[in-house]
Amino acid sequence: MSSVQTIEVHTAPAYEVAIGAGVLKTCGARLKSVLGDCRIAVVTDSNVALRYLDAVCESLRSAGFSVCSHVFPAGELNKNFTTLSGILEFLAAAQLTRTDCVAALGGGVTGDMAGFAAAVYLRGIRYVQLPTTLLSAVDSSVGGKTAIDLAAGKNLAGAFLQPAAVLCDTDCLKSLPAAVFADGAAEAIKTGVLSGEALFSLFENGTLTDAPAEIIARCIRCKAGVVERDEKERGERRLLNLGHTIGHAIEKCSGYAVPHGHAVAAGLAVMARASERLGWAEPGVSARIAACLEKNGLPTGTDYPAEALARAALADKKRSGESITIVVPRRIGGSELKRVPVTELLPIITAGLEV
Ligand code: GLY
Repeated sequence: MSSVQTIEVHTAPAYEVAIGAGVLKTCGARLKSVLGDCRIAVVTDSNVALRYLDAVCESLRSAGFSVCSHVFPAGELNKNFTTLSGILEFLAAAQLTRTDCVAALGGGVTGDMAGFAAAVYLRGIRYVQLPTTLLSAVDSSVGGKTAIDLAAGKNLAGAFLQPAAVLCDTDCLKSLPAAVFADGAAEAIKTGVLSGEALFSLFENGTLTDAPAEIIARCIRCKAGVVERDEKERGERRLLNLGHTIGHAIEKCSGYAVPHGHAVAAGLAVMARASERLGWAEPGVSARIAACLEKNGLPTGTDYPAEALARAALADKKRSGESITIVVPRRIGGSELKRVPVTELLPIITAGLEV
């Protein structure tokens, strides 16, 4: 039997992340001790439903849970009010009460949106994250950020609500298309850049498929530490947005045709180049980051002009009045927050786009 690693996230309340092969098939028994007797509404998308919904519902039922499920159409374009409203109406029609629970089964879109539904339904009920992509495993399933996109930009409506538990089944990674796996690699490499040489060198010298459970565990430990110190993103947690200001701008410019991880990869590479050109980063850092992204099938640039990216980025949450906070990588294991006037964003992006 394969081993399952657990990581405790010390937020209020605390919760456990379990990582290992086959944990979805045993999710019912695993969740029983956390949730007690309750109804569980499994929320998932049309792709993930085909592969995992039956097995998850069966495991939950055999552990004694009363189970219902809601499937929404897959894709970032559906991470909106219409889909959220569909989930909320479903929870109400299924008569979920305050002691019941939502299970977000899927990738980042599902986790963010089902989590947001749990945060606002009856002013907040519990939810658990059952991530099925590398991106949701290494990043979005942990930390309690929930959201939907608005026409003005990505994740502009949301709430902080920590999950009651996270079950991360590494078997799910085996069936991911290469591009979807690469999306998660982008967030893992970002974590490596923030965390330091020990984690980054694993990506630089090896591949993410070598020991996925170990990589996921290391990324989650790093993220959990940040979230425990700054749950509501008032300071240090903003560092986790490395690559995201330009990444979100790329997603928005593309009408969400560029997937999140690919956009973050390009945003990270552009920000690293800008940082080095402007004298903020150690020489060589941007080349190391770009090489690592390329090795994982990720882009290191974008064809969108700097003006369009700057315009899109200024609608982002990171703007505050006439300034915007960007995350500047200085070295591997050393990034910092820089508050710059909004007028400086365009020259920064321009510097990063020059190859
Ligand atoms: N994905 C960045 C964060 O959770 O803060």
